[in-house]
Amino acid sequence: MDDTKTASLIEFLAGARRVVALTGAGISAESGVPTFRGKDGLWRQYRAESLATPEAFSRDPALVWEWYDWRRGLIAPVGPNPGHEVLAAWEERFENFAVITQNVDGLHRKAGTRNLLELHGNIWRARCTREGTVRELPATPLPRVPPLCPDCGALLRPDIIWFGEPLDPDVLDRAFALSAGCQALFVIGTSSVVQPAASLPAAAARAGARVIEVNLEPTPLTPYADHFIAGPAGRVLPSLDRQLREWTDPGHSSGKGRSS
Ligand code: APR
Repeated sequence: MDDTKTASLIEFLAGARRVVALTGAGISAESGVPTFRGKDGLWRQYRAESLATPEAFSRDPALVWEWYDWRRGLIAPVGPNPGHEVLAAWEERFENFAVITQNVDGLHRKAGTRNLLELHGNIWRARCTREGTVRELPATPLPRVPPLCPDCGALLRPDIIWFGEPLDPDVLDRAFALSAGCQALFVIGTSSVVQPAASLPAAAARAGARVIEVNLEPTPLTPYADHFIAGPAGRVLPSLDRQLREWTDPGHSSGKGRSS
């Protein structure tokens, strides 16, 4: 993005009050969590149909749990990266800031983000297939595969939205309300192909928000975004944050102080 466009974006953000970030697997890539459709992405190695669908689970719950526990084993030792950390800090910078994530890795929460919507669930939680109760399932490797509900003995399933399953309607409504109510929507590290998350930027744009995409490469969203910033989120977000701080720091010639 050229300097003039960057400066206008920073000036705009310096005055913005309601800002939302929609994130995908790309924001966790620099933490060492594999993406889905990238070069060594999970869906290049494994068939989603045989691992991330309700049909796959009813066919072979142990196989599905082995795969999720393998992913939990990958995620457990890693931590948030500067991309997650800047978004957590932006809860203090902007009057209204929220993160809507497609990620199930829990790294936004680990970075300190509180205003968080997890569209696709969380890999550290499980749900009872009989009672529907949701519980934390922190231990990996799992002591027993497949894990059973300690209350009723029924099968537990990962608290994750699988392909072909509807998202939690309350979570989805809040995600669209946040997107349609913000002045700026960041779309970070997502291939923007999976619905309904991929429709959130259009809802924001329709309501007059600026859409700012951060990705290593263009996506189907890029032609419609107001700004496309090419680069790794773990570098782009700290750079934007630094420029914002310089802009809003009273010492900066055209600074205006914190957006109030
Ligand atoms: N910084 C920014 N973007 C990155 C980085 C990075 N360091 N690394 C990869 N990317 C980009 C890739 O270019 C790609 O566009 O992140 C995107 C990751 O896309 P996907 O792997 O398709 O992941 P995502 O968009 O989150 O997938 C959506 O699909 O498989 C389902 O439920 C799963 O939540 C997931 C959903």
